[in-house]
Amino acid sequence: MPMKQSTFRALRIYEEDQGHFRQQVSECQINDLPRGEVLVNVHYAALNYKDALSASGNKGVTRQYPHTPGIDGAGVVAESQHPDFKEGDQVIVTSYDLGMNTNGAFAEYIRVPASWVVPLPHGLGLKESMIIGTAGITAGIGLYKMEKAGQHPDRGPIAVSGATGGVGSMAVGILAKAGYEVIASTGKTQEEAYLKALGATTVVDREYLNDPSGRSLLKPLWAGAIDTVGDNTLATLLKGCEPEGNVSSCGLVGSPRLNTTVFPFIIKGVNLLGIDSATFPMSSRKVIWDKLADEWRVPGLEKIATTISLDELSTYIDRMLKGEVKGRTIVAMNQ
Ligand SMILES: NC(=O)c1ccc[n+]([C@@H]2O[C@H](COP(=O)([O-])OP(=O)(O)OC[C@H]3O[C@@H](n4cnc5c(N)ncnc54)[C@H](OP(=O)(O)O)[C@@H]3O)[C@@H](O)[C@H]2O)c1
Repeated sequence: MPMKQSTFRALRIYEEDQGHFRQQVSECQINDLPRGEVLVNVHYAALNYKDALSASGNKGVTRQYPHTPGIDGAGVVAESQHPDFKEGDQVIVTSYDLGMNTNGAFAEYIRVPASWVVPLPHGLGLKESMIIGTAGITAGIGLYKMEKAGQHPDRGPIAVSGATGGVGSMAVGILAKAGYEVIASTGKTQEEAYLKALGATTVVDREYLNDPSGRSLLKPLWAGAIDTVGDNTLATLLKGCEPEGNVSSCGLVGSPRLNTTVFPFIIKGVNLLGIDSATFPMSSRKVIWDKLADEWRVPGLEKIATTISLDELSTYIDRMLKGEVKGRTIVAMNQ
């Protein structure tokens, strides 16, 4: 059936003079969307830190404006030129170039290559899939790689930094569901009850993971870690890790720097695992989605979500850049 609708609403970012960027919900033309085999009517999108960077003009994420951010979208196929998808299919699109240099999911419609599209896993709703989103996939890839390297709940607790954030919240929930003790580190210690409800065993102030001693190794206090912060937090996680433990690095909210010695690696055999959810292969990505829908399914996902409209998004982007966001922020397009 041919599309009747020719325009749609999207949060557009416009570059103005002297490095200023303006955010505005605008009317866009479906015909102006990028080329691709699958047109998706987005029902839900999710806000990620990368979107906040794109929306504020970070050229490391988005080179050219005007632009529509949104690296996570879920909805219903409106048109498909690919045999794997048909009109009416419920699908998820995350990662690859969506929302970076390709117009993203802070919009009622996206058009993408079929190779970026994942059928909605059995047992998940569209909104739940966005509560998980890139944050859940990233935390899931972290645990997947750690377990491939020998991590097991019997080996001891896993530390999570930036624990109340999107990736952090999902990491706490997934690790707890998978049977791990979790040390949740946060700048918002008033959120102890939130983190414990997600499954954290212990909640610590983020300074606990910010060792000032300058020592190369510390008494081991965790058997592995999922780090969203970088800088001295990641260095501390490496030097305080049990022998043969695994530390996965996915974020840089503290800073992208890392100042460490090689001693955690060559004296303790600690593994530093890099996580890039955007380029993680589709075959393994589907494995992670299936785990997230089943054995790693975080109970009470709705409790970590704040649902907002497209018009409220700019306020939440500001809050995210200030580190004030808790859990996952979901954009409901019909709200
Ligand atoms: N590699 C990948 O594939 C991938 C995928 C997704 C995200 N990421 C990265 O992961 C990081 C987290 O993303 P997100 O979407 O979860 O962001 P988010 O929801 O904004 O969460 C970040 C959390 O980090 C903590 N934090 C903020 N500023 C901090 C600072 N200066 N020092 C220490 N902690 C700070 C805060 O938690 P507390 O108050 O609880 O400490 C905050 O809620 C970002 O760097 C993002 O780019 C990477």
